[in-house]
Amino acid sequence: MKLPKSFYNWTSIVGTSIAITAFFLIVFFFCVSVLFNQGGSYLGLVIYIVLPIVMIIGMLLIPIGMIIQIRRRNKQLFISEGMKWPKVDLNDQKHRNAFTLFVIVSFIFLFLSSIGSYEAFVYSESNQFCGTLCHSVMEPEYTTYQKSAHARVACVECHVGEGADWFVRSKLSGLYQVYAVTTNNFPRPIPTPIANLRPAQETCEHCHWPEKFYSKRTKFQRNFLTDKNNTEWNITQLMKIGPDHHTQQLSEGIHWHINPDIKIEFMSADDKNEFIQWVKYTNLKTGEVHIYEDMMMEPDSTFYADAKLRTMDCMDCHNRPSHVYLSPPDYIDEYLAAGKIDKSLPFIKMAAMEALKDSYFTKDSANLMIAQKVKEYYATNHPDIAKDKADDILTSIEKIKEAYHQNSFPEMRVKWDVYPNHKGHLESNGCFRCHDNYHSTKDGRVISKDCNLCHIITEQGKPDSLQHALYGKQLEFKHPIDIGTDWKDYNCTDCHAYLYP
Ligand code: HEC
Ligand code: HEC
Ligand code: HEC
Ligand code: HEC
Ligand code: HEC
Ligand code: HEC
Repeated sequence: MKLPKSFYNWTSIVGTSIAITAFFLIVFFFCVSVLFNQGGSYLGLVIYIVLPIVMIIGMLLIPIGMIIQIRRRNKQLFISEGMKWPKVDLNDQKHRNAFTLFVIVSFIFLFLSSIGSYEAFVYSESNQFCGTLCHSVMEPEYTTYQKSAHARVACVECHVGEGADWFVRSKLSGLYQVYAVTTNNFPRPIPTPIANLRPAQETCEHCHWPEKFYSKRTKFQRNFLTDKNNTEWNITQLMKIGPDHHTQQLSEGIHWHINPDIKIEFMSADDKNEFIQWVKYTNLKTGEVHIYEDMMMEPDSTFYADAKLRTMDCMDCHNRPSHVYLSPPDYIDEYLAAGKIDKSLPFIKMAAMEALKDSYFTKDSANLMIAQKVKEYYATNHPDIAKDKADDILTSIEKIKEAYHQNSFPEMRVKWDVYPNHKGHLESNGCFRCHDNYHSTKDGRVISKDCNLCHIITEQGKPDSLQHALYGKQLEFKHPIDIGTDWKDYNCTDCHAYLYP
């Protein structure tokens, strides 16, 4: 088949070969990925983004080559008459061939590219793409996500909204992120709160909504102490999430804050909302208003000038619905409870805590140091155990490392205290940011720290001597090791945030 003379030039021919090769590679890789269900995120990147770009470049080279060719041939004419558009004459066999070819190829191209761009869209919204492509950057989030209650909820359901504006916004910020990763110019750790995360109304409330009734929930927790027997200490709590009907009064429970008739606003001195100094409660039905100020750290005029007002929503308690980084005592307890670390090995919790006290800066150095410190701990403090149980100690070391890598990510500088969890009060102040008995209105109404406000303890103690509460009653908290009344007089964080810095 003959084509116009201008087609026969190196640029156009090279362009054609590039386009055809890219096209067949796309088809080939596509078949591989479909037939063998293989390839992972990198193949997706190649099929839907890299090769199509190469193909388009190839196709653009064709007309570019032709134009250069025409210009070169008609140089003389150009000088005398100026630029002229080429004449397309369908009576000419060559022109007709070129025209038919152009129409057919364009048609196939448009058809395929509509499928391709849809696939590229689906691919760029996939968990694979978000979670594994820039592996080391997203490793902390992806690892913890896979263990969370939301492991089947796509990243984009929480992180990207619906509609064209969110689409454009997320792809633009995505482009910037690709640039940041390729130039190795991104923050470690990734800062939170994420400035452009969608409001909770558009994310969480798609699937969970405030009007939905949540009843109380039993929370059962197994802790292990750092003594010879790794003594187990259990706590069962009834979390008062939903309303509680008494004969006298109605108490609404924890989700009272998101009751649609109520608005809680607050201001904090820092952008992580760790130090909340001013809280305002408005009852939208009755118009009742209370303003609480922190008596321990009284807000002054510079505070009011700088602080931003925020209305409380799900995220102010559930800021870690998907990426939960546990602290060393918590993840070692988890492993002991699950039997992954043998709890009959004397002092293993203590040894693990000794090894996990320090911060490590790479995975390799963590592996090395954890092994070394556990061995060292036994060798210096319990040489007999070190000798008799050498194999058990080695097995446990492997598990301690494994637990560490599920929760600490030294390359990204991520661990439990970098992203404090606001739901609770043990290792970061969470609820006690407001509920500390020191946030008070002018007339002395405080945000309560009463231990039975949010939960009641129904069981506590060692498994063989567990204390039980009578039905509907609660136990007074007993701290697992004797610290007198310190647990009442101080915040839990005053010790627990510093046990394993
Ligand atoms: C259930 C909703 C949800 C899902 C699903 C989810 N995230 Fe998140 N993500 C959040 C919230 C909430 C934050 C914390 C926001 C804040 O504190 O400002 C967050 C924070 C992050 C951060 C910031 C650093 C950090 O650890 O806090 C990154 C990065 C991130 N998510 C990536 C991902 C990736 C990748 C996926 C999918 C593999 C994913 N997220 C799935 C809700 C979600
Ligand atoms: C696409 C639907 C979806 C979205 C969006 C979603 N969730 Fe969930 N959520 C679920 C499912 C499914 C479960 C699992 C229920 C179970 O395990 O019983 C769950 C469980 C939970 C739980 C209880 C389990 C736990 O971790 O303690 C909490 C709390 C929760 N979600 C909060 C949130 C918050 C906060 C957001 C917004 C950042 C959110 N969810 C967004 C579907 C969703
Ligand atoms: C004042 C803090 C706070 C706010 C605000 C809040 N929650 Fe909760 N929520 C809790 C606590 C505490 C629990 C009990 C957690 C537990 O036992 O682990 C809980 C439990 C839940 C559960 C699990 C219920 C179950 O039965 O397992 C879901 C789902 C949930 N919240 C969703 C939401 C959503 C959606 C919002 C926003 C509309 C929201 N929460 C706002 C503190 C809060
Ligand atoms: C931004 C401040 C703030 C934070 C953070 C906060 N609360 Fe509250 N909470 C309040 C205020 C204000 C009240 C009403 C106090 C009053 O009665 O004067 C309240 C009341 C309550 C009540 C009593 C509701 C009723 O039935 O009257 C419960 C239960 C509660 N909060 C649980 C929690 C839990 C659990 C957390 C942490 C996950 C938490 N709160 C975090 C501000 C806060
Ligand atoms: C404002 C609400 C609130 C108040 C007041 C409160 N707690 Fe809690 N408490 C929580 C929440 C929320 C959690 C975390 C539940 C979770 O992790 O799902 C928690 C967790 C706990 C736990 C389990 C610790 C762990 O390892 O996670 C204990 C023990 C406990 N509280 C004791 C107390 C004691 C003692 C007091 C009184 C000094 C108290 N709480 C006051 C809301 C409260
Ligand atoms: C004076 C310091 C101090 C204060 C205050 C304190 N603790 Fe502890 N707590 C400790 C020490 C030390 C341990 C023992 C750690 C070990 O043996 O592993 C411990 C252990 C625990 C454990 C069992 C093991 C674990 O690490 O999970 C729980 C549960 C606990 N504390 C809850 C609380 C709660 C809830 C509060 C606040 C109401 C609180 N503590 C206040 C010092 C303190």
